[in-house]
Amino acid sequence: MRSFLAFGTTVAFASTAYAAIAQSFLPPAASPESSSANYTGQTNGTISNGPVVQGKVFDRFIQIWIENTDFATAASSPVFQNLSKEGILLDSFYAVTHPSEPNYIAAVGGDFFGSADDNFYHIPQNISTVVDLLEAKNISWATYQENMPYDGFTGFNFTQTDYLTGNGTYTYYVRKHNGLIIFDSVTNVTDRALRVRNFNDFANDVKADDIPQWSFITPNLVNDGHDTTIDFVGDWLNFWLIPLLNETKFNNNRTVILLTFDENETQSINNRIYTLVLGGGVPENLRGTTDSTFYTHYSALSSVEANWGLQSLGRGDTNTTMNNVFEFVANVTGWKNNGISGNSSDIPLLNITGTIPGPLNAAHYIPFAAPNTSAVGAGGQGVFVAQGLNTSLSAAALPGPVNLTAQGQISPWGTDPGINYANGTKVIASPTASSTSPGGSGGGSGGSNAAVGARAGAEVALLVGLGVVCGVAMLF
Ligand SMILES: *[C@@H]1O[C@H](CO)[C@@H](O)[C@H](O)[C@H]1NC(C)=O
Ligand SMILES: *[C@@H]1O[C@H](CO)[C@@H](O)[C@H](O)[C@H]1NC(C)=O
Ligand SMILES: *[C@@H]1O[C@H](CO)[C@@H](O)[C@H](O)[C@H]1NC(C)=O
Ligand SMILES: *[C@@H]1O[C@H](CO)[C@@H](O)[C@H](O)[C@H]1NC(C)=O
Ligand SMILES: *[C@@H]1O[C@H](CO)[C@@H](O)[C@H](O)[C@H]1NC(C)=O
Ligand SMILES: *[C@@H]1O[C@H](CO)[C@@H](O)[C@H](O)[C@H]1NC(C)=O
Ligand SMILES: *[C@@H]1O[C@H](CO)[C@@H](O)[C@H](O)[C@H]1NC(C)=O
Ligand SMILES: *[C@@H]1O[C@H](CO)[C@@H](O)[C@H](O)[C@H]1NC(C)=O
Ligand SMILES: *[C@@H]1O[C@H](CO)[C@@H](O)[C@H](O)[C@H]1NC(C)=O
Ligand SMILES: *[C@@H]1O[C@H](CO)[C@@H](O)[C@H](O)[C@H]1NC(C)=O
Ligand SMILES: *[C@@H]1O[C@H](CO)[C@@H](O)[C@H](O)[C@H]1NC(C)=O
Ligand SMILES: *[C@@H]1O[C@H](CO)[C@@H](O)[C@H](O)[C@H]1NC(C)=O
Repeated sequence: MRSFLAFGTTVAFASTAYAAIAQSFLPPAASPESSSANYTGQTNGTISNGPVVQGKVFDRFIQIWIENTDFATAASSPVFQNLSKEGILLDSFYAVTHPSEPNYIAAVGGDFFGSADDNFYHIPQNISTVVDLLEAKNISWATYQENMPYDGFTGFNFTQTDYLTGNGTYTYYVRKHNGLIIFDSVTNVTDRALRVRNFNDFANDVKADDIPQWSFITPNLVNDGHDTTIDFVGDWLNFWLIPLLNETKFNNNRTVILLTFDENETQSINNRIYTLVLGGGVPENLRGTTDSTFYTHYSALSSVEANWGLQSLGRGDTNTTMNNVFEFVANVTGWKNNGISGNSSDIPLLNITGTIPGPLNAAHYIPFAAPNTSAVGAGGQGVFVAQGLNTSLSAAALPGPVNLTAQGQISPWGTDPGINYANGTKVIASPTASSTSPGGSGGGSGGSNAAVGARAGAEVALLVGLGVVCGVAMLF
């Protein structure tokens, strides 16, 4: 926790368990289109995008994620109330689990793979993300991470000068809020890794009218409310988002902006989060309205798939309980939602954490399963099958979970494969011991683990063949 420092204006005290900084917002840059030393990361020039690929409803989709806030808290904020008049309030939108990291993983990968904590993970290269779906149709993408020090940074977090106090250091950037960097299919491919960009790049890209067609934006730990309060977030929105809504290089009549939270703060109740659809692409007659259809983070995938006729991931994005497409999109593309809405008892409990088996859950470990390759997603297409994916290893074909924790092990995916782009080119560190929380250098360990990543199918086959406990013991 930080020391008490009043900056002249209201000092907001945290009303919740996480929010902790008794401090007022200060702008990190002169404007959202200005680069700033406070963002640390050198800019890497303007991103290069191909020609715009027309969508059925929108040509640009921007997701902005803020943190750990209950629905009612956000709804009580005047900034959110005013914004809601300009867009559609989705008041039955749910996160998929707790805590943060698994939600960020799910929003780009269609699953959180059992993860129930914010530790360091990486996900093998044959497990796909929305990036595979977008690139298959030449749709440009990027993620912009405030205070990430350089493009493709793979470190666990980054600590820099504290620009709010001007004294000491502060950890503003964390990997756990950067879903795509957790996937080797992004990190291990240079052209992709370098599209994981920082906020100085954002300033460049927006000035150059080069914001890609799909982007995911993560403000830093103070601006996203993680370490602060909803009032602090409101001040950041006033500084950053609200002026950008008038900037046609960011928001035009073919842009849809999804402003949402990663999770509800209170775990003992279901995981509803305050979510707004903003942007010039929202039909005039729907501005200031509420849509009570049951949506989840997977809806952001299925809606994008529907808009551009993409393939799917064959995971949560094709789970017809969880993948309702935003109605203003579904109505145009002809997708039929499941009819669940409001506070229907058909809404599953999405506050469950820790007990869901998966490769990122050491206490309930199962290997990575192939997606459901017979699913048909909201894009009307089949499932993207990555190179090296053994499609016969479906969830049903895998052995039951084992407790690696009881054997003194962490998940085999909890080590750092050591990929680093500090000089703008890929370097893979030589194998060293593993760690659950590698430092900010992005360097590190796990050469043998990288090998596992390259042959995840073989690893699974071995586990099945040898019997799980034996296989685990032999491999890890
Ligand atoms: C960094 O942030 C501080 C606090 O808002 C501000 O005074 C300073 O001007 C900022 N630096 C730049 C380069 O914008
Ligand atoms: C700066 O931080 C140091 C160490 O935390 C503290 O002793 C000092 O009083 C701080 N100075 C100001 C101006 O806040
Ligand atoms: C955005 O534009 C609207 C309408 O032109 C105007 O009322 C509003 O003040 C502008 N907002 C900002 C932050 O510039
Ligand atoms: C959207 O903006 C473009 C470019 O400014 C313009 O040509 C077009 O008429 C606008 N469409 C609508 C529906 O407002
Ligand atoms: C999840 O929410 C439900 C409904 O509000 C509640 O009954 C349950 O105890 C919660 N589960 C957990 C694990 O907190
Ligand atoms: C999320 O938490 C808030 C505050 O604790 C609560 O009012 C809200 O109903 C919760 N969401 C759901 C769906 O229970
Ligand atoms: C779809 O999601 C629901 C709710 O999380 C879950 O209970 C169900 O098992 C999922 N279906 C499949 C096929 O994974
Ligand atoms: C979608 O279509 C249904 C049925 O025609 C209609 O009731 C609903 O208002 C439409 N919703 C939107 C957001 O356009
Ligand atoms: C797994 O093992 C750990 C350590 O022995 C134990 O604390 C935990 O309860 C076990 N979990 C399950 C699901 O068996
Ligand atoms: C910047 O990005 C380009 C590719 O877009 C890459 O060739 C170059 O190495 C990058 N430089 C840095 C410093 O990230
Ligand atoms: C940042 O990473 C270091 C080393 O991995 C860890 O000890 C520290 O707790 C992390 N801090 C935050 C705020 O995540
Ligand atoms: C990254 O790709 C290289 C080959 O280009 C491969 O040798 C390595 O195992 C991969 N690492 C991971 C973590 O997938």
